[in-house]
Amino acid sequence: MDRFKGKTVLVTGAASGMGLAATRRFIQEGANVTMLDIDEAKLNKAAADFPPDRVLVRAGDTAHKDTARGAVAATVERFGRLDILINNAGIASEGDIMQTSEEDFERVMAVNVAGYFHMAKAAMPELVKARGSIVMTSSVSGLGGDWEMFAYNTSKGAVSNMVRAMALDAAKHGVRVNAVNPSFTNTGMTQDMLADADLVAKFEERMPLGAPEDADGVAAAMAFLASDDARLITGVNLPVDAGLMASNGQPAQ
Ligand SMILES: NC(=O)c1ccc[n+]([C@@H]2O[C@H](COP(=O)([O-])OP(=O)(O)OC[C@H]3O[C@@H](n4cnc5c(N)ncnc54)[C@H](O)[C@@H]3O)[C@@H](O)[C@H]2O)c1
Repeated sequence: MDRFKGKTVLVTGAASGMGLAATRRFIQEGANVTMLDIDEAKLNKAAADFPPDRVLVRAGDTAHKDTARGAVAATVERFGRLDILINNAGIASEGDIMQTSEEDFERVMAVNVAGYFHMAKAAMPELVKARGSIVMTSSVSGLGGDWEMFAYNTSKGAVSNMVRAMALDAAKHGVRVNAVNPSFTNTGMTQDMLADADLVAKFEERMPLGAPEDADGVAAAMAFLASDDARLITGVNLPVDAGLMASNGQPAQ
């Protein structure tokens, strides 16, 4: 498929996991991609797998507004346009409110919420020109609570509503804004969880299509939401969760 031929995509958190899978998917479907990540070494290694004329590599921390402005300007300079923003770079943090330090809370909110804001704000003028779209990686953790993930839940809840609020305002400019809401996915973020067989078994009980999810499956949903096939869809938080949210929470019998 060539759904994104002639289009340019900016992916944050592109060195690993879902961001890397999204980069691969958009390149396969014809797009040029700006890969942005805080981990420069990992980013350069990941980008080496793609045709150099189709990728732009940018190292930076999305929590800083200058990173966002610089990445958008460099994208337009190199590829002439920006059609799609994949707002995906995120960090996790464990602990209930008493275990969560002020510093951890502030960093999670700076990356997972303010970072998405800076990227979306910097991208909007170009997306308006292109009548483009944004896909944000929220989480099932942005649709309900988890035990002992206070800061992460707070941040992802904000992303889920950022998408709804932005979608209402952006529609008048022809720009769509949606989220994917994955559950437990095999990425860099979950390597500790994957090593815990009991925990994996608990997720398998809750995810009827199986756990963990693969990042390519999440990237496929991102590509759908960013594509013209989803031209009537905006403001949606799409669970990409192997069926987890289909449950009302009562245990299996
Ligand atoms: N893995 C899961 O189970 C899961 C489930 C639901 C949602 N998510 C979300 O998916 C998104 C992608 O995470 P992943 O699971 O692919 O993890 P990952 O750790 O494999 O990838 C995240 C990437 O983001 C980069 N990054 C982190 N902070 C950054 C910053 N400030 N600026 C720029 N880049 C930064 C990291 O260097 C890394 O390459 C995150 O928003 C995460 O919260 C993950």
